[in-house]
Amino acid sequence: VDVVLIDSFGRIATDLRVSLTDRCNLRCTYCMPEEGLQWLAKSELLTDEEIVRLVRIAVTELGVREVRFTGGEPLLRPGLVGIVAACAELRPRPRLSLTTNGIGLARNSAALRQAGLDRVNVSLDTLRPDVFQRLTRRRRHGDVIEGLLAARASGLAPVKVNAVLMRGINDDEAADLLSWALAHDYELRFIEQMPLDAQHGWQRSDMVTAAEILQRLTQRFDLTPELDDRRGSAPAERWLVDGGPARVGVIASVTRPFCRACDRTRLTADGQVRTCLFAREESDLRTSLRAGASDAEIAELWRIAMWGKKAGSGLDDPAFLQPDRPMSAIGG
Ligand code: GTP
Ligand code: 5AD
Ligand code: SF4
Repeated sequence: VDVVLIDSFGRIATDLRVSLTDRCNLRCTYCMPEEGLQWLAKSELLTDEEIVRLVRIAVTELGVREVRFTGGEPLLRPGLVGIVAACAELRPRPRLSLTTNGIGLARNSAALRQAGLDRVNVSLDTLRPDVFQRLTRRRRHGDVIEGLLAARASGLAPVKVNAVLMRGINDDEAADLLSWALAHDYELRFIEQMPLDAQHGWQRSDMVTAAEILQRLTQRFDLTPELDDRRGSAPAERWLVDGGPARVGVIASVTRPFCRACDRTRLTADGQVRTCLFAREESDLRTSLRAGASDAEIAELWRIAMWGKKAGSGLDDPAFLQPDRPMSAIGG
């Protein structure tokens, strides 16, 4: 690789997040309205072959070393196992991970592991089925728990669990979630709610902050900041729980942004490069791909797109505007 995805602030993107679909089988209130969204048409979606080609270009021409599949819900993509298998054949082989809501993971985790998936992050905000239904508008709590158990059993490691706390709904569950995660050896991370919902209902004043989450956890646990600074570019700040080795993470995109160390580039399900979750522009690769552009030409377009990456999310700017597309279409 002699060209890398470097931006004008000197950050180098080695971590690619690929959204495989904008659809989802849950309707989390902090993400989507009950009726769902205007989904992308089949013809707009990249095909499995197009996705693998773009990942290959990213890995072999642009220095990407880690590929994460997201959605929407990536397990809804029929070709997922094949896409993972093809990406695992690339040299240098990228690390491969998946972020999922866990529904269907029980059925697929062994095949995914076999295909070359290294690890998985599963979203679970509550241990209470009734609260799960309130948060996600679906009765699928049991499926997620089964998915988590299957992920562990099939050798995906580590298994991380992502939890968003919503005031008045599950914000009393922080310590219970951590007790449970410790018992099952899942690495739990709490995520501050971000203004990326389709309904534009986010309010800073309502958000459960990292400070508040830590305060709740320290009522039951002894937390010490992870000393060796291996956070690097990872969004989660981590604490040792009761002396370790178990850890808990907090992803505080709003109150403690980590943009200066960001090493990410994103590809939407319809073939647009995004430099940031909060970017207001996208760069179209699909048109060139379908018009017969060469690998080198596509790599060049990707590189130019990343050069324009902004310094940060802009969340603290009074003139902040949410991106036009919601998280489910961007690929968390
Ligand atoms: P690993 O730590 O590598 O396992 O992955 P991750 O935590 O980055 O990925 P995951 O898909 O589990 O995302 C967890 C949360 O971090 C989600 O809410 C994402 O939207 C958020 N997130 C992921 N990447 C970024 C980013 O570049 N910026 C911000 N602000 N949030 C991000
Ligand atoms: N803010 C923070 N996290 C969110 N997620 C989805 N929408 C939001 C939001 N608005 C979480 C999901 C999943 C991860 C990919 O992002 O719960 O765990
Ligand atoms: Fe990277 Fe943008 Fe997230 Fe900051 S907000 S960490 S720049 S994707």
